[in-house]
Amino acid sequence: MVLSAAQVADFAEQGFLVLPDFIPADRLAELRARAAELDAQLRVTDADEVTVFSTTDQSHADDSWFLESGDKVRGFFEDSGDQLNKIGHAMHDLDPVFSGFCRDTGFGDIAAEIGMDDPALVQSMYIYKHPGVGGEVTWHTDHSFLWTEPRSVVGFWVAVDEATTENGCMWAIPGGHRLPVKSRFVRDGDSTSTEVFDPDEYPIDQAVALPATPGTLILLDGALPHWSDANRSERPRQAFTLHVVDGATEWSERNWLRRSPDLPFRGFEPVLS
Ligand code: FE2
Repeated sequence: MVLSAAQVADFAEQGFLVLPDFIPADRLAELRARAAELDAQLRVTDADEVTVFSTTDQSHADDSWFLESGDKVRGFFEDSGDQLNKIGHAMHDLDPVFSGFCRDTGFGDIAAEIGMDDPALVQSMYIYKHPGVGGEVTWHTDHSFLWTEPRSVVGFWVAVDEATTENGCMWAIPGGHRLPVKSRFVRDGDSTSTEVFDPDEYPIDQAVALPATPGTLILLDGALPHWSDANRSERPRQAFTLHVVDGATEWSERNWLRRSPDLPFRGFEPVLS
């Protein structure tokens, strides 16, 4: 067992679980180095096709660069144009280093222990949040973007750098996963929209900061409202996140994220050497 019974119960109760020192330093270094290599490659191959990614402005979402990235490894640049906001969204299946990281560091054991019958790895992101540049990620639930019936998505978020309240650590509302999800991001062909079920804000006065030392894993229930601030510090805040759904549920065809038939969702079994 990776998790104790108490930790499994805590995750069910709070909707999140913070596991310090979960990822060894050498694996973190490997991830950071590989991301830097991808960054360099993306600059060469994609320099004329960059998409500005802003989570406070959904305008990027209608861009095919974003919509077609569900089965690719693409760079998404900040407004300033010269720094990456993130790399996404299928490194976990297409890149040997990220694939290995996702599949042999204990995430699969955790997925089983929290009750996922048939885990499917659907989305990976390497998130930069550069000092003074990386922006806020507004309050949301991951279920709104990665919808299944019934709800099943779980986020595996890894601090590559130390994350603090100054450089944009995660915040969450304890127990907030029991609130009804307030919106859903849907795709129809090449256009997207947000269906709003409840326009009221989440009770963000109840939010708690989840500061994280490097190597900390934070599990996030798909219905847990979470937020991270802009990086207002001088220090970087790189992070990696993997989203996993239960293949025993029904993946919504209205999700923005789509896969080529050649690259179906896979589980935690090794896929690349
Ligand atoms: Fe999220």
